[in-house]
Amino acid sequence: MPTIDLSAVRGQFPALSLKDSSRSPVFFDGPGGTQVPRRVIDAVSHYLACTNANHGGAFRTSRESDAVLAAAHEAMADFLNARSAREIVMGPNMTTLTFQFSRSMAQELNAGDEIIITCLDHDANRAPWQALAEKGVILREVDFDPSDCTLRMDELERALSPRTRVVAVGYASNCVGTINPIAKIAEMAHSVGAWLWVDAVHYAPHGPIDVQALGCDFLVCSAYKFFGPHGGVVWGREDLLDRLPAYKVRPAGNRPPDKFETGTQNHEAQAGVLAAVDYLAEIGEKFGSSLAEDLPGFQGRRRKLKQAMAVIQLYERNLFEHFVRGLLSIPGLTFYGIQDPYRFHERTPTAAFTLAGRTPREVAEKLARQGVYVWAGNFYAIAVTERLGLEKTGGVVRAGLAHYNTREEVDFCLKCLREAG
Ligand SMILES: Cc1ncc(COP(=O)(O)O)c(C=O)c1O
Repeated sequence: MPTIDLSAVRGQFPALSLKDSSRSPVFFDGPGGTQVPRRVIDAVSHYLACTNANHGGAFRTSRESDAVLAAAHEAMADFLNARSAREIVMGPNMTTLTFQFSRSMAQELNAGDEIIITCLDHDANRAPWQALAEKGVILREVDFDPSDCTLRMDELERALSPRTRVVAVGYASNCVGTINPIAKIAEMAHSVGAWLWVDAVHYAPHGPIDVQALGCDFLVCSAYKFFGPHGGVVWGREDLLDRLPAYKVRPAGNRPPDKFETGTQNHEAQAGVLAAVDYLAEIGEKFGSSLAEDLPGFQGRRRKLKQAMAVIQLYERNLFEHFVRGLLSIPGLTFYGIQDPYRFHERTPTAAFTLAGRTPREVAEKLARQGVYVWAGNFYAIAVTERLGLEKTGGVVRAGLAHYNTREEVDFCLKCLREAG
């Protein structure tokens, strides 16, 4: 079975060698933002040191800035398997981009049109659509099954109607890790003529994304969750990006992506996004090449990215199985979400749990004192913690694994949790 060489991977992340007192922290905070490899840090500082300029000018630094921005769009097109870089819109973060696009889409909606959102989603894929109620748009909400935190597909089926114009759903839950069947949801949305807006922020560091195979209409992610700097990315079908009105200034270009890239972009972050994608491609080349025969039609960086995300997925699943087995053996621990290893392809390696007798924040503080970084609360997936009846008691503890985490770190976290119980 192919796997990654952990010391080669970890050696690229300066943060993994930091010391809190005498030990290196255990970064299980990835769902809130992953660490970045040296090449991303270098790309950001190189941009600012050597090519810093506004774009579109006649001189070297401006021409080089144009080249970096174009290369970052190409890299994201490869990462998402877009048809072309014109389908890639960069922006500040997923939340701002979703508000921006929901307002553009609202121009095409009428009172009485319907939008479907889910209880499993981060609020950034709910609030922008809920805001359209002001215009007379009707919101339909799809629940999840609290026993395993999977989306109620029967409810989604019932919620769809010829009035449905947009279905907004997450690729994976940033709270309980459930991966939704996006290709199936795309078929269902299209059967009534609706557009599918996918929030892939949580999924992106954990598996390959192929917008063409998924058949969605828009997909949004954030580079700081997949080893890059803070910056958001929307992929949209080119005909839809062309058709949607943009809130823009007159001199800005009228074609996508320019019309949606409002104002001066974060050039240094785009340099970092490019480096993050190249980092992943290198993981694919070095550790995932034995997966090549399964990838007909994918060439160059696209092929390497597929290989990277496949080998990362394999590694993380194995590590997560060990983690979950340990978590489930801790007295007083309640685990939320899919816990059957045979179903781990339906989830990311992000564990949500509570510990009897301690608030999630107390658990996170105790772990932090021992150098284990986890999150506590709702992580803005407030509909999830409300639905699970946990919002008033401080939500859950969230420990998320990334491909740079080790079995020793998992064991140490489990030991700390056993002592905390
Ligand atoms: C699933 C999910 N969606 C959306 C967001 C918001 O992303 P951003 O911080 O880029 O606005 C997050 C951030 O945690 C997330 O995990």
